[in-house]
Amino acid sequence: MAEPTPIRDTAENVKVIYQMSAKTNFKEAVGQFYDKWAEHYDEDLENSKYVAPVGGAEELSKRVEDKNALIIDCAAGTGQVGVELAKRGFKNIDAVDLSQKSLDISASKGVYRKLFCDSLGKNKIKGVEDGCYDALTCIGAIGVGHIAEDAFVEWNRIVKKGGIMVFSASKISFENEPERQKEIKNQIRAAIKDLVEQGQWEMLEHKDMDYLFGHQADMFTVRRL
Ligand SMILES: C[S@@+](CC[C@H](N)C(=O)[O-])C[C@H]1O[C@@H](n2cnc3c(N)ncnc32)[C@H](O)[C@@H]1O
Repeated sequence: MAEPTPIRDTAENVKVIYQMSAKTNFKEAVGQFYDKWAEHYDEDLENSKYVAPVGGAEELSKRVEDKNALIIDCAAGTGQVGVELAKRGFKNIDAVDLSQKSLDISASKGVYRKLFCDSLGKNKIKGVEDGCYDALTCIGAIGVGHIAEDAFVEWNRIVKKGGIMVFSASKISFENEPERQKEIKNQIRAAIKDLVEQGQWEMLEHKDMDYLFGHQADMFTVRRL
């Protein structure tokens, strides 16, 4: 069967990605889907009231004083978070994403130092040393069909002790959402709670952030211990 193609409707595209998540090895298909969406992504998301990159960057800039801090923008996509970080004076931002076409758009925005086309999950990101980052962002990319809790081990490897991580987790539920998708959201929240209880992360803040379509998402700010 042909792989799905994005249309100019963000809600429909998100639903398609939710459906793709049921397949084994769905990550490759999701990367290809974002490759095809990349050209229109910024415009479509603007029309969908996507404001999370502003909130994520604002939160990081409250927590990280050093504008030379080395930051990794996980699931950077077309670079919206990097642009917002650069507006707040940050100079050393790297990007990682599954979608090379999205990263090409990120690169064109001139705010990233290095860009890595790789998957976030159990695997190690190729070319990234242990403990090299002062801070990490991951906005708009944790949840069904995207990044799950299995990426947290890798985040802990690449972020130095004392480093700050700011990430969002979507709370949007679609009509008739399968039970499995609710379970994925719960698993992610349970993994965050476990890491705090195990003393690997200190929860600095957990609050609602303005997100997409006028809905809110959870925003977590943690210190890697
Ligand atoms: C909704 S976009 C968010 C992009 C950007 N952070 C923003 O706020 O505009 C989700 C991004 O996550 C990326 N992505 C999804 N699953 C991924 C994974 N497992 N590893 C790396 N990137 C992933 C997609 O390629 C896409 O660029």
